[in-house]
Amino acid sequence: MRKILITGALGQIGSELVMYMRNIYGNENVIASNITADGSKKVLESGPFEIVNVLNPQQIADAVNKYKVNTIVHLASILSAVGEANPVAAWNLNMGGLFNVLEVAKENGCSVFTPSSIAAFGPSTPKDKTPQDTVQRPSTMYGITKVSGELLCDYYFKRFNVDVRGVRFPGLISYETLPGGGTTDYAVHIYYEAIKNKKYTSYIKEGTYMDMMYMPDALEAIVKLIEADPKRLKHRNAFNVTSMSFEPEEIAREIKKHIPEFVMDYDVDPIRQGIADSWPNSLDDSAAREEWDWNPKYDLAAMTKDMLEKLSVKLGK
Ligand code: SER
Repeated sequence: MRKILITGALGQIGSELVMYMRNIYGNENVIASNITADGSKKVLESGPFEIVNVLNPQQIADAVNKYKVNTIVHLASILSAVGEANPVAAWNLNMGGLFNVLEVAKENGCSVFTPSSIAAFGPSTPKDKTPQDTVQRPSTMYGITKVSGELLCDYYFKRFNVDVRGVRFPGLISYETLPGGGTTDYAVHIYYEAIKNKKYTSYIKEGTYMDMMYMPDALEAIVKLIEADPKRLKHRNAFNVTSMSFEPEEIAREIKKHIPEFVMDYDVDPIRQGIADSWPNSLDDSAAREEWDWNPKYDLAAMTKDMLEKLSVKLGK
C-alpha cells in the first residue's frame, strides 16, 4: 500500500492532487504538507496535514517516519516569473528542497515524483515539436533549477537506485488554486477576468505559442507515471507532456464563443515575454505516450467550456 507525502500541498497542483490521490489511495494514506497551513480547507480537513519546510531535511524525515511514507511527491517550488525577481531564493528553494527530498528518500527507501517544466528548455532548443532528448540551455534561473533537478533525479536513480520519476509540465490551467507566479499564468487569469469583467489585458504578446494543460490531465499524468511498469520506462524523469499549444488570440477567441462581449487588449511585460520567447512553441510527447500511455483528454475547446462553467459557480456569476 502506498503512503504518500506531498510537499507544497497547498499550491496550485498540490491542492488538487491531494484530493485526487486521497480518492484513489484513501484519505489516511495521503499526507499533505506545506510551509504554512494557509490554503484549501478541503485538503486541511480531509486527511493528515504536516507543516514541512523542504529546506529543513529533519522536517521531511520526521513526516516520512511518522506516517511510514514510501512515496514522496515533491511539488514545493518557486515558478519562473517569481524566480526571475528572486533568483537567489529560486536557486535555494528549488535545488535545496529537491536535494533534501532525494536524500530523505534514499535513506528511507522512498520513491519520488517531482515535476520539471517546459522551462528546462531555452532559446537554442528546437522550438516546434521539441524532442524529448535535445538541447537544454535555459536562460532563466527557474529553468536552470529545472534542468539541474532533472540531472539530480537521474543521478539518484542511477547511483542510489532511488525510483525517481517526473514529467516536464507545460502551463497548467485550473480553477481551484491560483498559480504562484509563472509565465503561463495569463492563461488562468484570462478566465477569471472574462467572467468577472468581460475583458482582459494580456502581458503576453499576440502570436506567442506555449504548451498548456488542463489540471485533470496533469493529475492523471502524475498517478499514471507513478504507477507505470518500470520495465517499460526507457526514460525516468522529465518526460515531455502536453495537451495543447495556443497563443493569446486563440484562447480569447475560444472564450468569446461562450462570452461574446469578451474583449482582450495587450500590455506586454518584457520580463515574462522574454521568458515565454525562450521556451518551446510545442513539445513532442511521444516518449510519454509510448512508455506509460500518456493520453490527455482536454483540448482548448473542452477546457474552456469546463473552466468557464466551474469558475462561474466558484465566483458566483
Ligand atoms: N507554469 C510554469 C511557469 O510559467 C512553467 O513551468 O513558470
